[in-house]
Amino acid sequence: MSSNMLTSNHVPVLLQETMRALAVQPGGRYIDCTLGGGGHALAVLEHSSPGGQLLGIDADPRGIEIARAKLEAYSSSILLVNENFTNLQAICIKYDFFPVHGILFDLGLSSIQLNGSGRGFSFQHDAPLDMRISPSQQTTAADIINTSSEAELAHLIRTYGEEGYSRQIARRIVKERPIRSTLHLAQIVERAISRKRGRIHPATKTFQALRIAVNQELENLESALKQAVSLLGFEGRLVVISYHSLEDRIVKQFMQRESRDCICPSGIPVCVCGHKARLRLINKRVIVPSASEIKLNPRSRSAKLRVAECITTRDDYYGNTEVQNFLAVAETGAWRRPALLKKLELVFLAA
Ligand SMILES: C[S@@+](CC[C@H](N)C(=O)[O-])C[C@H]1O[C@@H](n2cnc3c(N)ncnc32)[C@H](O)[C@@H]1O
Repeated sequence: MSSNMLTSNHVPVLLQETMRALAVQPGGRYIDCTLGGGGHALAVLEHSSPGGQLLGIDADPRGIEIARAKLEAYSSSILLVNENFTNLQAICIKYDFFPVHGILFDLGLSSIQLNGSGRGFSFQHDAPLDMRISPSQQTTAADIINTSSEAELAHLIRTYGEEGYSRQIARRIVKERPIRSTLHLAQIVERAISRKRGRIHPATKTFQALRIAVNQELENLESALKQAVSLLGFEGRLVVISYHSLEDRIVKQFMQRESRDCICPSGIPVCVCGHKARLRLINKRVIVPSASEIKLNPRSRSAKLRVAECITTRDDYYGNTEVQNFLAVAETGAWRRPALLKKLELVFLAA
């Protein structure tokens, strides 16, 4: 494909707020775990110039191609990896890219994927029911729709779509299978609910549920957040933009838990968990787009940005079990332990 066809029509959400939250500084190192159209990544490179470095990750190979074209001017400062962010630590070990000043997750899908990518993410266009972010994944949305039991479908649509009509929808799906295309599924959901639902299309929640299930979005997010904390240097920032309440709940609870010294259940008189805070919450209130941003980019309307800062001191760092495991992994394979220790030394000098 010629590079001039690789254009991104994705408008980055909460762009200025994200740069402030990441506290991007010249010469800093950053990881964009959801590269997409490269909009946030480009801004990070501009703000961290001169000397900034960026590791960009995306599970969708097409996202990587588009971002590479967009970030061409910074080609010597970027490393783009077509991988799932659930492998975040392994990627950073492999490419010797940690500790970092900031890590960004801008969750969900880009406009490029939603707008007629032909991969079935949207019911606005007819396409096969695929919904895999990466073509290397095995299970498609059609597999789930056509092989799950009615009870499994109802559970999935209720849990991941927070859909009140999940049983009616599941019953209708099972009756009308096989279902192969997005428009076919959207019509079935519409008939099952048998009335319009305010401003959102009746199939919105069912499509969200399927996409989350196909891509194991919630499990991947939980796993990646844990890994991200041990990749941050002292005062490094973790910034997450989410687009639905299931994701935002995971991010909120994770940041709250990691910013507390004790996570024992309430009622226990003396702490037995030994948990130590590794993060400090930067925004007490979640950051959302302004009315003018929503007007310009309606897709931003559900965005929620949360940010926390790594407060791990050198001693805590070496004592932390998760980091011990991380170091153990880093010692294996091609990893050079002296270089690792040198780097840890440097990043914690200021702590
Ligand atoms: C909302 S877009 C990011 C847009 C980007 N911030 C920009 O400004 O252009 C989200 C991107 O994350 C990618 N993605 C979603 N889940 C992923 C995962 N588990 N691992 C890696 N990439 C993922 C999607 O393929 C998509 O390109």
